[in-house]
Amino acid sequence: MNIIVTGGAGFIGSVMAQYLVNTYPEDTVINLDKLTYAGNLENCKPIENAPNYRFVRGDIADRKFVYDLFEEVKPDVVINFAAESHVDRSVEHPEEFVRTNVMGTTTLLDACRDLGIPRYHQVSTDEVYGDLPLDRPDLFFTETTPLHASSPYSASKASADMFVQAYHRTFGLNTTISRCSNNYGQYQFPEKLIPLMISRALKDQDLPVYGQGINVRDWLHVEDHCKAIDLIVREGRIGEVYNIGGHNERTNLQVVETILDALGKPKSLIKYVKDRPGHDQRYAIDPDKLEKELGWKPKYNFDTGIRQTIQWYLDHQDWMQNILSGDYQNYFKEMYKDRVQ
Ligand code: NAD
Ligand code: DAU
Repeated sequence: MNIIVTGGAGFIGSVMAQYLVNTYPEDTVINLDKLTYAGNLENCKPIENAPNYRFVRGDIADRKFVYDLFEEVKPDVVINFAAESHVDRSVEHPEEFVRTNVMGTTTLLDACRDLGIPRYHQVSTDEVYGDLPLDRPDLFFTETTPLHASSPYSASKASADMFVQAYHRTFGLNTTISRCSNNYGQYQFPEKLIPLMISRALKDQDLPVYGQGINVRDWLHVEDHCKAIDLIVREGRIGEVYNIGGHNERTNLQVVETILDALGKPKSLIKYVKDRPGHDQRYAIDPDKLEKELGWKPKYNFDTGIRQTIQWYLDHQDWMQNILSGDYQNYFKEMYKDRVQ
């Protein structure tokens, strides 16, 4: 098979590209990525010379580019990871989220439809369901939970999901959608909670915890996410949505304290800062459908996965340093300047 993975130089897409290249030597993986601030070819170094791997720089919202590439490659499958993915950035600049996450997705869908591409998978997020209250631990997101987005990021992802479903129903495109909870693991850009806290704790810098740190996220190791997507692409039922999650809920404070303990750093580094506007309270996935229909089971729980992840960042400080020495410094100053309480 020829598999186009979009966003394959980002966090999850690069782990997916590595997994596919190594697991299926008979398939060819074409990594299509614009290389925005979040795209990093170092994430793809382990496979860059593999005979069944190719990188192409381009924009999923660039219609001519996408059609030309699809005509040339004739992909059997398109797996769309490419997105603007950070909620805080979407609060500052929503337009780029509409362009890439909505227009980019519809461009890919149009190309699949017009050129007869047999299979399309959309990598979505549990954030499209909105949030759950903190005092109802009995509630979980299922695939039939209504879409109820809170941030410009989740609104753009929910919109993309609706286009995917519309193209399936109206044009008969062979689509699936997966909605995963928060990922952690190797190669995550240090604007996101876990790598941000690890990188700052290592330098004894303040750790900015939004609000009271009581918001809950449901953490899944990135490799378990990628294996689930592969399963859905190969064995999932066409037209369906699958939730992905491993029942690993933690408050943000618990996550930050786990990192501090593992690094032997003091809790005094924690600094409570102004909350994120519209901050979702709790995410919690019910993965029953994926487990029962496709037999998926995660390999990691949070306690084993977070230790391995912290060790990975300790062993790859050059990777982190290369990112932190660039534009990222300006990002941190800009994004956190009004948060200090
Ligand atoms: P990321 O920000 O680390 O990577 C995004 C990648 O997409 C980058 O390599 C970037 O260069 C590329 N990209 C951005 N705009 C593009 C465009 N217009 N054309 C081509 N490439 C473009 O994101 P991530 O955390 O790896 O998330 C990947 C996908 O998974 C996203 O669709 C996100 O919504 C979804 N998701 C993420 C999580 C999570 O916890 N990170 C959880 C569930 C779902
Ligand atoms: O649930 C899936 C989603 O998870 C994905 O769709 C998104 O792409 C991904 O970014 C992630 O969204 P979150 O907003 O949950 O992730 P983030 O790492 O930005 O924040 C996790 C929690 O930590 C959230 O409650 C906000 C909080 N936080 C975050 C940062 C960056 C802090 O308290 N301080 C911080 O500095």
